[in-house]
Amino acid sequence: MASNPTGPARGLEGVVAAQTRLSHVDGKNGVLIVGGYEIEDLASHCTFEEAAHLLWRGHLPSRDESAKLAAEMAELREIPKLTLEILRAAAAAPPIDALRMACATLSLGLADPNAITPEADFAAAKRLTACFPTVVAAHARIGKRAEPIAPRKDLPLAANFLYMVHGKEPDPAAARALDTYWVTVLDHGMNASTFTARVIASTRSDLVSAITGALGALKGPLHGGAPGPVLDMLQEIKSADRAEAWLKNELAQGRRIMGFGHRVYKVRDPRAEVLSKTAERLGQAQLENRQLYELALQVEQTALRLLAEAKPGRNLRTNVEFYTALVLQALGLDPRQFVAMFACGRTAGWCAHVIEQHAEDHLIRPQSEYIGPKGLKVSR
Ligand code: COA
Repeated sequence: MASNPTGPARGLEGVVAAQTRLSHVDGKNGVLIVGGYEIEDLASHCTFEEAAHLLWRGHLPSRDESAKLAAEMAELREIPKLTLEILRAAAAAPPIDALRMACATLSLGLADPNAITPEADFAAAKRLTACFPTVVAAHARIGKRAEPIAPRKDLPLAANFLYMVHGKEPDPAAARALDTYWVTVLDHGMNASTFTARVIASTRSDLVSAITGALGALKGPLHGGAPGPVLDMLQEIKSADRAEAWLKNELAQGRRIMGFGHRVYKVRDPRAEVLSKTAERLGQAQLENRQLYELALQVEQTALRLLAEAKPGRNLRTNVEFYTALVLQALGLDPRQFVAMFACGRTAGWCAHVIEQHAEDHLIRPQSEYIGPKGLKVSR
């Protein structure tokens, strides 16, 4: 256990807070296992709904189970009128904030929002996972002073999201890319938002409360990630011949290069591996995307070399955010939405953790070390 010599483990680093069957992050070897499968395998062979089923039910769905879950979730995409009103009131708020506000309203309409049985959790998990893309798309439209587009039931979840944002049926390659992105970010060990969801669930609170809390944790810049700034960086660099000077200057100023380094991975993040291939496929389809992808490849190589020179022994490698930026940008999404897009995928993982924590039914209640004064007396 990594611990502070004068106190407990700082930020609980190295502390095992739960046993889970959901995912395992092997940072030394760059392997992410989700529900028993390596992420590359899962992302190339399963839809997002199938991967969610894997975590919620403990096995990949049969063909019939898969069709049933997709159909059930398609029926659940519509959001309540009140939720839409809140999104209109939150038009200027960051999308992740709007999603947090909307999430809390989604217990409306659940048969028994406070039940914590596996079936009630499963019903709530389906509802939130089905509704989040509708919320993000509606908020995006409202932000552009356009009317939200009602979800369609005949499209898969990712394709329907792109349809609701852009108002036309997406290219199948774009829909597949978004689906792959959501599978890739489905779950990732005991990160801060997942821990938050489990702490809330451990009090026997309901799934919607736990996911609302998880969104609050994800919102913070230390967790919500860097895909927006990665795009800013690529746009500022503009062309491969400017990369070296630009990156050197950033490092000389003591600034961090966005999209590199990770608390756990000391080799290339396996999710970056999956998403770089997705970005490459999107790049082949459109010239503008290809140019950005090719620039990103050159920037990546230069950044890795400069980081190895500037921070020897730190093993700073490409992380998931670097290629996330390229994929989401190629799908025509606004960088302000990127954290909320991440949440749409991760919510399926959070829900699985809530289901697992409810089954364990054990209160998470750590201790604190008191370092304040003692023996003071009130003199009034
Ligand atoms: N660019 C430049 N230097 C970096 C760096 C980066 N992207 N990431 C880490 N470093 C440096 C730190 O400055 C520190 O240097 P020092 O020892 O000389 O002070 C050293 O590497 C270790 O950094 P540390 O903050 O201990 O690593 P961490 O494991 O706590 O940080 C991140 C992990 C992700 C917060 C960090 O790598 C980072 O800020 N990356 C950029 C932002 C990003 O891409 N975030 C998305 C993560 S998925």
